[in-house]
Amino acid sequence: MRTEILAPTPKAIELGAKLLLNHEIVGFPTETVYGLAASVFDESAINKIYTVKGRPNDNPLIAHIAELSDAKKIGKNIPKEFYLLAEKFFPGPLTLVVEKQDNVPSVASAGLPTIGIRMPDHPVALALIKATQTPLVAPSANLSGKPSPTTAAHVYEDLKGKIPLVLDGGPCLVGIESTVLDLTCQPFAVLRPGNITAREIESVLQTKINTDSNDKTHSSPKAPGMKYAHYKPSATVSLFYNLSDIAPLEKTMILVEPTKVNAFKKHFPNCLIEPLTAENLFASFRLADRLHYLNIMILVDETIQNRRELMDRINKASKI
Ligand code: TXA
Ligand code: MG
Repeated sequence: MRTEILAPTPKAIELGAKLLLNHEIVGFPTETVYGLAASVFDESAINKIYTVKGRPNDNPLIAHIAELSDAKKIGKNIPKEFYLLAEKFFPGPLTLVVEKQDNVPSVASAGLPTIGIRMPDHPVALALIKATQTPLVAPSANLSGKPSPTTAAHVYEDLKGKIPLVLDGGPCLVGIESTVLDLTCQPFAVLRPGNITAREIESVLQTKINTDSNDKTHSSPKAPGMKYAHYKPSATVSLFYNLSDIAPLEKTMILVEPTKVNAFKKHFPNCLIEPLTAENLFASFRLADRLHYLNIMILVDETIQNRRELMDRINKASKI
C-alpha cells in the first residue's frame, strides 16, 4: 500500500474521512502526539490498528470527540465531574475514563467495560472527527514499543506502506501523551501523568485524587498501556543528576534543560546536545536512533525532577 502524506487542506481532510468511512485507518495530528484513527464503531478498522501497530490486544484505545454532546454516544452514567473537567480542559490533553456504552465494540476498549474520552486541541483532529461524523478511536501512531510520533515524518518512519494516509499538521506542540484520569474508581486516579497535572485537576474538583494508581502496592484499576516498555529508543538512555558525573562516550546525545544547551555545546563539542523539553523528547529519541547513536545521556536537574509527566517518560526510556 502507498502511504500518502498530505497537508491538511479541506480536500485532504475529506479524503481522510472517506477512507475512515471505508474501514481504513488514518494518521492525524493532535496537540499531544500523532494518532492513528478508526471510527469508534468500526470493529474491522479497529482490528487493523492493533495489527498495524503490533499492539497487545489487552491495551484499550482512547476515543476522540469534537463536541461534548458526543460523549454520551460512547460513555454512559457519565459523572458530573466529567463535565466540570471538560468545561475547564476540553479541548486539551486530558483523557477521562468513564463507563462504556454497550454499542461501542469491545475491541475499542480491549474488552474493558470502560472507555477513555478526550477532545483534542488541534484544528485538523477536530475537522477530521467532524467530517466523519463519528468519534474516532486513536492510539499514538507509532509501532508498539517505539517513542510516540510528534511529526508526520515519524508516523511515516514507522507505518510506511501499512496505512493509506497521514495528515501532516506540523510538529505537535505538547509532545507527550494526554493525562489519563479514571473517573470510575474512588478516589479518581491518574493512570498516566501528562501535561495537565493532578494539582490542576484537584483544584477544579476540589477533592484529592490518587496519583499512585500504577504503583504495585495499590489495587485500583490501571491503564493497561502503562505496563508495557514504551518510549524506548535503541540507544541506551542513562540519567545523570550532576554535571560532573557526565563522561560522554562515543556517539552520544546529551539532553539538557534548554537554557544550558549552548554551554554544553562548548563543553562537549563531540556530542550532539539537544534541549530537554516535553515537545522535543520523543523527537530527540528518534533522531538519536536515525543517526545510529549509541548513548543518550539525560541531565535531570531539579526543575525536570518536578515534572512528573516528563520523568515518567524518561524513566521508562531508561529502563533496561
Ligand atoms: O495524547 C494521547 O492520549 C494520544 C493522542 C493520539 O490522543 N493517544 C495515546 O493513545 O497516547 P495510546 O493508545 O498510545 O495510549 C492510551 C493509554 C494507554 O496507556 C491505555 O492503557 C490507557 O490510555 N487507556 C485507554 N483506555 C483506557 C481505559 N478504558 N481504562 C484504563 N486505561 C485506558
Ligand atoms: Mg502509545
